[in-house]
Amino acid sequence: MKALIASGGRGTRLRPITHTQNKHLIPIANKPILHYAIEAVAKAGIKEIAIVINAGSSEVPDAIGNGDRWGVNITYLQQEIPGGLAQVVGLAEKFMGNDEFIFYLGDNMVVGGVQSFLDAFKKSKCNCFLTLAKVKDPERFGVPEIRDGRIVSVEEKPEKPKSNFAVSGIYIYDHHIFEAVKSITQSARGELEISDAHQYLIDKGYTIGYAEITGWWKDTGKPADLLEANRLVLDNIETSIAGEVDAHSVVSGKVRIEKGARITNSVVRGPAIIGEGCTIQDAYIGPFSSIGNNTTIIKSEVEYSIILRDCKIHNVGIRLESSILGNDVEVVEGNGKPRVHRFMIGDQSRVEVV
Ligand code: G1P
Repeated sequence: MKALIASGGRGTRLRPITHTQNKHLIPIANKPILHYAIEAVAKAGIKEIAIVINAGSSEVPDAIGNGDRWGVNITYLQQEIPGGLAQVVGLAEKFMGNDEFIFYLGDNMVVGGVQSFLDAFKKSKCNCFLTLAKVKDPERFGVPEIRDGRIVSVEEKPEKPKSNFAVSGIYIYDHHIFEAVKSITQSARGELEISDAHQYLIDKGYTIGYAEITGWWKDTGKPADLLEANRLVLDNIETSIAGEVDAHSVVSGKVRIEKGARITNSVVRGPAIIGEGCTIQDAYIGPFSSIGNNTTIIKSEVEYSIILRDCKIHNVGIRLESSILGNDVEVVEGNGKPRVHRFMIGDQSRVEVV
């Protein structure tokens, strides 16, 4: 068993963060999303992993390396132009040979790992194994039609979904998937759709098994999903305090304060993570906040937010909530008269003021 992890694409729905950063490297609880996928497959005992990256970009290899730190071997495969998930699978044909493999979309997060799915796949002796999650908005996903406990069709982003399940981005295949991805044609949005490859397998009489993800699963394609994923991961952290907390501060709930961080005259209410070298002074950090390394928060309040590294949030009169700040962002009090809002904001940003 090998693994294929997708980390390419443009991340258009997460702009502006993704103008300068691959979406798979955005941190959830101060750890890149992609780490969670690698950890999950490594934990299931898989040693050979291929990661598909955007051609010409060393961002992911630079951040992830050769896999040593997880005890796995990582090979990078380049995708020239993003052309759909079935194209991503096609790129891995030589790497996989005749081996079975798990295909894991690097922006998906699932609690509980993937071992149970691999076991179910092996037991089922199916050619393809899909993992399904009940969702409120199936039209955003690949959607299966299930009759008598069998998947009889799969449609990509259907207007009229035939079930309230999404096909999650964790798939298990044998080599027949390569025949499928080579046989399908581009969809209306110009992509080789993974759902069309699944439909091909069904039409040709190959066997498709499935399992329902009953725990928590998220495709972190939209900002609100990132915040939700962050909330869930933080909910499961353990308290550890390596930084300094002064006598005038109150830290409660599950809180991780990394080394070199200083909390002065502040309230930190977990679950929350304060990264290395942060300064939190006369401030309030509320539940479900992740603060990246070397960020300073002074006389300000932050809750249910993801703040990346090297940010400055100083003297902001109203609490920041449900916010995502990229690297090196400043939100500070304006000085002088007239009393104005003054913005210096990149493309496709969003600011709400009161
Ligand atoms: C992709 C797949 C879709 C699947 C989803 C899971 O959608 O095309 O079938 O349900 O991932 O995350 P995309 O994220 O490209 O919109």
